[in-house]
Amino acid sequence: MPAPFSPSLTGTSLEGHVVMVTGAASGIGRECTQWLSERGAHVALMDRDESALAALRDKVAVSGGDVLPAPADVTDQAAVVAAVDDMVRRWGGVHGLLNCAGITGTTGIRSHEVELQDFENVMRVNLHGAFVVGSAVIPTMLQQGYGRVVHIASISGKEGNPGMAAYSTSKAALIGLVKVQGKEYAEDGITVNAISPAVVQTPMVAQLPPQQVDYMTSRIPMRRCCTLFEVAEMAGWILSPAASFTTGFTFDLSGGRATY
Ligand SMILES: NC(=O)c1ccc[n+]([C@@H]2O[C@H](COP(=O)([O-])OP(=O)(O)OC[C@H]3O[C@@H](n4cnc5c(N)ncnc54)[C@H](O)[C@@H]3O)[C@@H](O)[C@H]2O)c1
Repeated sequence: MPAPFSPSLTGTSLEGHVVMVTGAASGIGRECTQWLSERGAHVALMDRDESALAALRDKVAVSGGDVLPAPADVTDQAAVVAAVDDMVRRWGGVHGLLNCAGITGTTGIRSHEVELQDFENVMRVNLHGAFVVGSAVIPTMLQQGYGRVVHIASISGKEGNPGMAAYSTSKAALIGLVKVQGKEYAEDGITVNAISPAVVQTPMVAQLPPQQVDYMTSRIPMRRCCTLFEVAEMAGWILSPAASFTTGFTFDLSGGRATY
């Protein structure tokens, strides 16, 4: 079993780092997986879409990347813990978690029209899932005295997008969890942060009602969407040892929409 501290824990290099990416099969998680593996990280790929994970594994392997598919639902605590155990057995530790798994639920309707079950479903994946995956990696990070946890929240969690009650609420709660955990592990070498993108063109955005996307995009002062590469670059830096004095924080990635 490789030693957990073999990679450099200074600077921006992620060479040899062990990272779990959730929501790895699509959009932001998929892009970040490729970005991380091109930079020498070992990446465990968690998603509930098993066939897309297998395709991504094959694609990354062609360019020499070292990835481990971990098909699981982020709300299934036993499955998530087993997947983390697998990656620790294989690579000797876990340096980073990038939690991208998320759903929007029904959008484009006002709060009183949202079905309770839909609301609960979104909260379960976006909030409970974040709690489950974070809780699964943190014990190993505590043993190592090192860890980087990054959750993809959303600008809607800071501002509240009308027509997205469940989604915005789940992301606001996620930002709250990050604030708590940032403080809880501040003396343990573990940082816990979030990123709040505005609009990134992914399959998630493609399935939203056009008027919902128009609203979100019209609020971006830069008058364009965020690129997948811009998300990966920011996530990669926060996952690196260099990002050592920021925790409990939500990084803006909104083209100027949020300046706080
Ligand atoms: N795309 C945007 O504009 C945008 C903006 C702000 C925040 N975000 C957030 O970024 C993250 C990634 O979004 P995306 O746009 O890449 O979406 P996406 O739909 O392209 O990818 C999400 C992935 O998460 C997986 N997933 C969903 N529920 C899961 C579960 N219970 N267990 C395991 N995997 C699950 C899906 O299978 C999918 O592969 C999400 O949390 C989303 O809320 C996206």
